[in-house]
Amino acid sequence: MKRTRNLVLAAASAALVLSGCGSDSGDDGGSEGGEGKIGVILPDTASSVRWESADRPALESAFDEAGVEYEIQNAEGDADQMATIADGMVADGVTVLAIVNLDSDSGAAIQEKAGQQGVRTIDYDRLTLGGSADYYVSFDNTVVGELQGEGLAQCLGEDEADVIYLNGAPTDNNATLFSEGAHSVLDEGPYENAGEQAVPDWDNEQAVTIFEQLYTQADGQVDGVYAANDGLAGSVISILEKNGRAGEVPVTGQDATVEGLQNILAGDQCMTVYKSAKLEAGALAETAIALVNGEDAETNGTTEDVDGDREVPSVLLDPESITQDNVKTVVDDGGVTAEDLCDGEFAEMCEEAGIS
Ligand code: BGC
Repeated sequence: MKRTRNLVLAAASAALVLSGCGSDSGDDGGSEGGEGKIGVILPDTASSVRWESADRPALESAFDEAGVEYEIQNAEGDADQMATIADGMVADGVTVLAIVNLDSDSGAAIQEKAGQQGVRTIDYDRLTLGGSADYYVSFDNTVVGELQGEGLAQCLGEDEADVIYLNGAPTDNNATLFSEGAHSVLDEGPYENAGEQAVPDWDNEQAVTIFEQLYTQADGQVDGVYAANDGLAGSVISILEKNGRAGEVPVTGQDATVEGLQNILAGDQCMTVYKSAKLEAGALAETAIALVNGEDAETNGTTEDVDGDREVPSVLLDPESITQDNVKTVVDDGGVTAEDLCDGEFAEMCEEAGIS
């Protein structure tokens, strides 16, 4: 399939050269022979520490290892800024642009403009609804939500329980999938929904206020909390602590951050989801390099873009559930360092968990 497509492309460009009416794309457009440049725009530094602490270094080593030219920037939570960075990258000779959108509309506009200038685009981690990305590289985000739901159910046990749901940003398609996945599990159990709200921009500070309100509205009748990522879990735990209930009410998370894993070791967080940045960045690098070389990329499925009414060719990786029993696997895999995780008061807990 891939081979056929390449042959067709080669034949098409040969025909253009022969007929003497080719566009620039043959010799100097950078779409052949690996002469292009890859641009990646990360979303922010506040919705999760992952983007700068895990994704950036993993992307840098994947690109360095492949010996390709690249540029990585962070939009700092500002969609206009992301559009400006994209323009700058294209002006700078980027031929493949990967973005983690801040919302689907701004992401789609960036992709459309880049596409008009002959740049191939990739959705990294978040699908841009109504966008035009050639590929989507992510984890199976519904499974992420299912793992969160299963983890919370395991921590809650078989008894009836009241659960509050703190979802991620309403503008992030992933947050929708996480929540759907979690509900698909928890709605089947003996659990009541005691309140549910999405947190704009995954903002950890707003999450504190939102959760405190939900907690008060529920009169403190809360047995478990679905928090969509480790940052939001931290916000929830701070309010549970204030009410003397940290450690008693299980809380979910995601990203296997140092803070999340420490909360798990301390018994304040029930679980997190590990999504290896090395795997995701590696998959992005492979996809982008194929595009730079004018080839099709390897995929393992498609993802439905419900707004654009199309199936986006995708690389979807497997997320892993982490509880107190297997925190060590994240360290062993290089997701966090033992040095960062086992700092200060956590040294003893690490020792007990067999982490050194
Ligand atoms: C990512 C999560 C991350 C969240 C906030 C989601 O799209 O998949 O890993 O925690 O955004 O940045």
